[in-house]
Amino acid sequence: MNSEAMERARAVEAQLTDDERFSLLISVMGTNEVLKDKDPRIPDGVPMSAGYTPGIPRLGIPALLMSDASLGVTNPGYREGDTATALPASIALGATFNPELARRSGRLVGREARSKGLNVQLAGGLNLHRDPRNGRNFEYLSEDPWLTGVLGAESVKGIQGEQVISTVKHFSLNCNETNRHWLDAVIDPAAHRESDLLAFEIAIERARPGSVMTGYNKVNGTYAGGNRTLLQDILKGAWGFPGWVMSDWGATPGWDFALQGQDQESGAQIDVMMWGKEPFTSPLRDAYAAGEFPKERLSGMVRRILYAIFDVGIDRWEGTPDVDLAAHADIALETARQGIVLLKNDGVLPLQPPSAGGAPLKIAVIGGHAQLGVPIGAGSSAVAPPGGYAEVHTVGGPGIMGSMRNLYLLPSSPLAELQRLLPDAAIEYDPGMSPAEAALLARRCDVALVFGIRLEGEGYDNADLSLPWGQDAVIEAVADANPATVVVLETGNPVAMPWLPKVRAVLAAWYPGQCGGRAIAEILTGAVNPSGKLPLTFPVGLDQTPRPELPGLGTPWGTPTTITYNEGSDVGYRWFARTGHRPLFAFGHGLSYTRFEYADLSVTHRGVVRAEFTITNAGQRRGADVPQLYLLEEPAGPRMRLLGFERVDLEPGESRTVTLDVDPRLPASFDTDRGQWHISAGSYRLALGHSAGNYALEADVTLPEKWFGR
Ligand code: BGC
Repeated sequence: MNSEAMERARAVEAQLTDDERFSLLISVMGTNEVLKDKDPRIPDGVPMSAGYTPGIPRLGIPALLMSDASLGVTNPGYREGDTATALPASIALGATFNPELARRSGRLVGREARSKGLNVQLAGGLNLHRDPRNGRNFEYLSEDPWLTGVLGAESVKGIQGEQVISTVKHFSLNCNETNRHWLDAVIDPAAHRESDLLAFEIAIERARPGSVMTGYNKVNGTYAGGNRTLLQDILKGAWGFPGWVMSDWGATPGWDFALQGQDQESGAQIDVMMWGKEPFTSPLRDAYAAGEFPKERLSGMVRRILYAIFDVGIDRWEGTPDVDLAAHADIALETARQGIVLLKNDGVLPLQPPSAGGAPLKIAVIGGHAQLGVPIGAGSSAVAPPGGYAEVHTVGGPGIMGSMRNLYLLPSSPLAELQRLLPDAAIEYDPGMSPAEAALLARRCDVALVFGIRLEGEGYDNADLSLPWGQDAVIEAVADANPATVVVLETGNPVAMPWLPKVRAVLAAWYPGQCGGRAIAEILTGAVNPSGKLPLTFPVGLDQTPRPELPGLGTPWGTPTTITYNEGSDVGYRWFARTGHRPLFAFGHGLSYTRFEYADLSVTHRGVVRAEFTITNAGQRRGADVPQLYLLEEPAGPRMRLLGFERVDLEPGESRTVTLDVDPRLPASFDTDRGQWHISAGSYRLALGHSAGNYALEADVTLPEKWFGR
């Protein structure tokens, strides 16, 4: 807590009129393609954005100008011609396992936002990947609370380091999009603390974001925005969060959310569309006049907003920062390079140029609009890159998000980049429209690269794990026609791979951002050694996941839906460990063109569990690896947890000693009766692995009993 900012917040709040106090409690959306009429509450000359809250100039309080920022600063039609660096999806950042890149991406977002006059970034999607159908998994970092919390914190620090407030969202358990406004996410409260809430807890304590955004969904029967247990007891109580809680856009059905811990209503016009009224304008004032909404609570809400403003310093901006778009493009490129995961490779990659004097390598590039660019996820996070999109295909769909459901392509063409890197190769393109046609080209080439894409996005869960538009059949036909077939996936989630045994290599490139085509080409050709690791488990099929059937999927918009997250805190790889299923590709898996060896694991406990080991690059090429430390067993039996990781860059033959200190909450359980974390006394088995399914070394450590935290 920044006591100076808190003192100032108290002093300034005391000087406000009630009208000024109430003015801070809502934000309104700018004019865009959906909201055609300009809201009269937004003065002329103010840059339009996802949310506008007026300032109080007489006391030096700036207006809040909020914009989406999961993958860069967005502009869904608010500001004509205004573009921004389009970063790879958060799931790709998760796959880098690189906190430093998360920090640099955050800095980029903060700096670009500030250069546009936007001072609150709706960034920091921290929900866990619980379901491979979730349409917004691409906006979230991983299935693991430690990886998500650590990377999320760095991104917030990066943004706020540029004196721009960052939010973390969507608090909590907004892990599916199906009927999200009517969705009740049910979970055991202790398991919630050990999973999704732990990711938020870690990010919030490390980075002190100014604001937290609630989810659309209910949690255990009560809307997240009106959920006293979550907001008051846990976030503000146990964790002592001093900033403000804003709702998601259109997630405030009633004024009484203010009594439960929500401090600000967001996107007020959407609440009118959704619920027929603006809850925080006249109804909240009426409740105040009637004595149902106490003055102390009103002041408290305002103080929280002021605290974040003063803590982050958005009232102290001096000048407009320069933006180096070329340097920012390099961050987007580096994130894509480090986030692309080589899932399978039987030696076909990197592509081998023919020996001197040989015939040029004939390469078929098939499908995925690879001649134009790379796709992004749809919805509020979509970023228009410098120069604009390469193409926008209108797709549409049921519900209010249908108008935002487009296939956007960023202009970084894998085909063009391959041609640039392999000038002597003969590369031809086939659109992948039909299996038979694609096979014709594949048959007369030395190698066939098939691009499989999927449009995923906000408001929709995927119905299954297959690739749309008949692409699985195209891959099958190409693999039948050419024994050297490589598949490049550009998706926001795992996909089923019925063709896997027939293809020789698979890359998961996610939505790789504005330099994604280049990063893909560099990895395929070996200019870059792949180093991404899966931030979520790839199941063979949905029957391996906790919910083979997704409740509510396919029901009309507005259908009340309950999803019971009965896996509790055993999300992703932990679920696989618990059930004994063998996934298609394990969490943490990712191949390289070199080889890493681990040795000399020692685990000690002197107040903190510390693991030490050496890692060696035992291959012929420079590369990066991410050794991962797991808990396998606690005294009561098997219990799997990622305890730590570190990304290490090594020259061929080079070794390094790595030390990992374990956060005590990771081997602990949360006890809701005592409201504390608990470590049982006894022996714990740990493993150092290349992934959650491939351990190199194991060690035991004995821990004393411990109760701690809140
Ligand atoms: C999304 C939020 C986003 C907000 C503002 C909502 O639809 O769920 O993540 O920040 O819109 O654009």
